[in-house]
Amino acid sequence: MKILLTGCNGQVGWELARTLLPLGEVIALNREQADFSNLEKLRATVQTIQPDVIVNAAAYTAVDKAETERELAFLINTQAVEVLAQEAKKLNALLIHYSTDYVFDGTKDAPYYENDATNPLNIYGESKLAGEQAIQTSGADYLILRTTWVFASRGQNFVKSILRLAAEREELNIVADQIGAPTWARLIAETTAHILKHAQQERVTKTFASGIYNLTSSGETSWHGFAEKIVELARLQNYEFKNRVINPIPTSAYPLPAKRPANSRLSTERLTQRFGLIMPTWEDTLKLCLEELK
Ligand SMILES: NC(=O)c1ccc[n+]([C@@H]2O[C@H](COP(=O)([O-])OP(=O)(O)OC[C@H]3O[C@@H](n4cnc5c(N)ncnc54)[C@H](OP(=O)(O)O)[C@@H]3O)[C@@H](O)[C@H]2O)c1
Repeated sequence: MKILLTGCNGQVGWELARTLLPLGEVIALNREQADFSNLEKLRATVQTIQPDVIVNAAAYTAVDKAETERELAFLINTQAVEVLAQEAKKLNALLIHYSTDYVFDGTKDAPYYENDATNPLNIYGESKLAGEQAIQTSGADYLILRTTWVFASRGQNFVKSILRLAAEREELNIVADQIGAPTWARLIAETTAHILKHAQQERVTKTFASGIYNLTSSGETSWHGFAEKIVELARLQNYEFKNRVINPIPTSAYPLPAKRPANSRLSTERLTQRFGLIMPTWEDTLKLCLEELK
């Protein structure tokens, strides 16, 4: 099986470049090798490689910047994704793609199911939703995996920011009225590898069905609860911090250009039913990530 992986230097892409290796020949391309802002070159790259599977971990993920870079966000998250889907259809390749809880407005009072009504609050969410729709209408075999609050030992993310800030500041103010499930990039990559293996077997036996699946850790917390747990677990691992207190604040006290959903919880029932995978808690995976960072 020839697997084309795009975005191989991102949080999730970097992990995928490792976890996909036992499944076949992995051709892992970074931004220079597969630039999503050059659609025709991207198309030609896929045509040259002729993959059996495309795993797309590349995305425009600058949520706040997207508010002023709408065109670029749509180019990367929608138009380039449409090109991948069109080429996957021509090659009869499977397309695995990642999406986000930001396709929802967060007003539901419970975890979101895959088929709940979407209503993005920001441009990034709109561009990711349009990317999902381009895949769904392409006719290609696809799996769209929606995830949330990604952290990793590489790249820019909340865990690394809190470790830095807790070392520098005695007091931190963190938003407490947005809830979700922090999800380790390695968990996303390893779950993807299991799903891919399962899906390829289904494709052989002609039992495969395309669909959207939520892929997050189990459990839930707020950004404030997440920050407290990062500091608590890191202290147990002998990290040294100046921090004494983490104050819970409302979203209104920390205004950002892009609006965020208050409820980012996604139900993973459907993933468990089809693929037999049980998602670990965000705390357990956070502990592992911190050990690695140390
Ligand atoms: N991060 C989150 O909290 C979060 C939450 C929900 C869903 N997701 C989704 O999960 C997936 C993986 O996200 P992530 O956290 O791994 O994101 P990330 O760390 O920001 O990685 C995105 C990757 O896309 C690449 N990229 C950006 N512009 C590109 C372009 N024009 N052409 C080719 N590649 C380009 C980046 O390249 P460089 O390395 O060169 O910058 C980077 O390697 C994405 O689909 C994202 O929308 C993420």
